[in-house]
Amino acid sequence: MRWNEDFIEEVRVRNDILDVVSGYVRLKRNGGSYFGLCPFHNEKTPSFSVTPSKQMFYCFGCHRGGNVINFVMEYENYTFSEAVAHLAERVGMQVPENESTSAERAADYLKQRLLEIYKKTGQFYYRALHSPVGKKGYEYLRGRGLTDETIRRFGLGYAPVLPKDQSLYAYLKNEGYTDDELKKSALFRFTEKGVSEFFWNRVMFPILNERNKAIAFGGRVMGDGEPKYLNSQETVVFEKSRTLYGLHEARRAREGYLLLCEGYMDVISLHQAGFNNSVAALGTAFNERHCMILRRYTNEVILTFDSDGAGQDAAKRAIPFLKDAGIMIRVLDMKPYKDPDEFIKNLGADAFRERIKNAKNSFLFEIDMMRKAADLSDPAKKTQFEKSVATKLMEFSDELERNNYTEAVCREFSIDIGSMKRTIASMAAQGYKVPEQTKPVSHPSRSQREEEAREKALNAQKVLLTWISEKPSLYAKIEDLITAEDFTDPIYAKVAAEVFTQAKNGEVQPAQIMSRFTGETENANRIAELFNTKLEHAEGSDLVRAFEEVVRRVKEDGLNNLAKTATSVSVIQSIMKQRSRLAKWKCDTLE
Ligand code: GTP
Ligand code: MN
Repeated sequence: MRWNEDFIEEVRVRNDILDVVSGYVRLKRNGGSYFGLCPFHNEKTPSFSVTPSKQMFYCFGCHRGGNVINFVMEYENYTFSEAVAHLAERVGMQVPENESTSAERAADYLKQRLLEIYKKTGQFYYRALHSPVGKKGYEYLRGRGLTDETIRRFGLGYAPVLPKDQSLYAYLKNEGYTDDELKKSALFRFTEKGVSEFFWNRVMFPILNERNKAIAFGGRVMGDGEPKYLNSQETVVFEKSRTLYGLHEARRAREGYLLLCEGYMDVISLHQAGFNNSVAALGTAFNERHCMILRRYTNEVILTFDSDGAGQDAAKRAIPFLKDAGIMIRVLDMKPYKDPDEFIKNLGADAFRERIKNAKNSFLFEIDMMRKAADLSDPAKKTQFEKSVATKLMEFSDELERNNYTEAVCREFSIDIGSMKRTIASMAAQGYKVPEQTKPVSHPSRSQREEEAREKALNAQKVLLTWISEKPSLYAKIEDLITAEDFTDPIYAKVAAEVFTQAKNGEVQPAQIMSRFTGETENANRIAELFNTKLEHAEGSDLVRAFEEVVRRVKEDGLNNLAKTATSVSVIQSIMKQRSRLAKWKCDTLE
């Protein structure tokens, strides 16, 4: 969806940042700003600020910042369009459907209808669970240790077997949905003999998307029976390979890692025990699409797959995908229990928390899998195994870490440590190269003085822009001297151009300027920082002097920068002219 800038701007203006953020963070006033504990990093003293006059937030601790759209994007993990749509809805604005074709509109309409159908179906199943016809289902769920609160939170229900006129089909028809829509919902089987329900006599798990909307259902038989779990087929709103059960809550957990498990019941038990950062892939094997989604929320995953053979195989398959996505992996040892659900029922949440703490890097897990596959009684195979271990150890580029793992692995698998170290040394000597790592390349360090000068220059640029945005009348003092080109940082230069244009009209709106950079979070954070630079606490004539100094620094740096690349005579002449103008420039008062 595409919107014009006016629409986006109106959405921004009508969503006061203090109102919006207050819905998520407890804030306390301090001067012109409000402070609270940052929702984006762990802290004990508040360094997260919201400044209504600027319509911006900024965290002095983790340096995230931006306008109200950036906040919602960051907090809800929304895309730009999702954030804008969410905020528009919040203030009751109609989201325009401009620039879409009629086919797109029809597709959007169908999606919307399906979401309504699932919402109503979820309510239908939930009501059934709490009515006499669903008593079995309710008792089953309670019997598995789920509380009423959990049942409500996950919207669990029961697919009843009812007379035709009270069936789900009749209910939805009565609500105005067409056969075509109901067919596309995958909740029914349409045959020549008539319509029948896909789910019956099962406890039902609505599958929610990241926005808390039901997009499909899973159903479990109560007790034994085949198939144990049944998931609804894929539809235009449900793609199994990119759906993770529990993500609607887990994505908000901000625990630093996510727990990845195998089943619905595991996720639900974990959430009930307080681990609301757990998710599961559904029916389909965990794949790279899942990884791309997980990567939006975390850089560490703890695998809590079943401890049986199938679960361990699944873990082994999942590891390469996670690695490729740059996600750190630890593997939790569930023994002697089969899955998180059973573990928690037997040993409780504290014991599970302990297992999380002790979860090992996936390395030892992978080695263990290799060992199980190899027949170590055969000396040739044993040598081969030890070579593979050495190859894996070479993946640790940090020597200390590699040594630690070498020791751990040798201890665990009774390998002679001296011989392992020799194997590694000889591989290193033969120039064995570890497959490309995705670690950031460290840049050759600039001389420290150069770095400091750059810092100072950038700081002056930030101070100047903050100053002018807080007091736009100051722009008149520098209008003839400073231009956006004097800002050596490309982003600052762009912001400066905007600030100057707005200052001329008497008011600078940092949050509006932010909107132009919303695509890239990194830039948004830098711009928010820029508008929240601390000004010198000077007074009177000192303040004038401070302002002069900042202006001079910005101009000088700008000219020096220009001079570095100047080749044409006219540019050099212009630099000289500007230098002499700067020498004469003076500021008497800031009023
Ligand atoms: P409970 O027995 O209810 O505790 O479930 P579980 O999670 O322990 O079951 P299991 O380990 O057998 O299955 C893990 C996950 O695999 C489930 O949550 C389902 O998503 C999926 N699954 C299990 N059995 C079936 C099945 O028969 N059909 C389909 N499509 N998926 C299944
Ligand atoms: Mn289970």
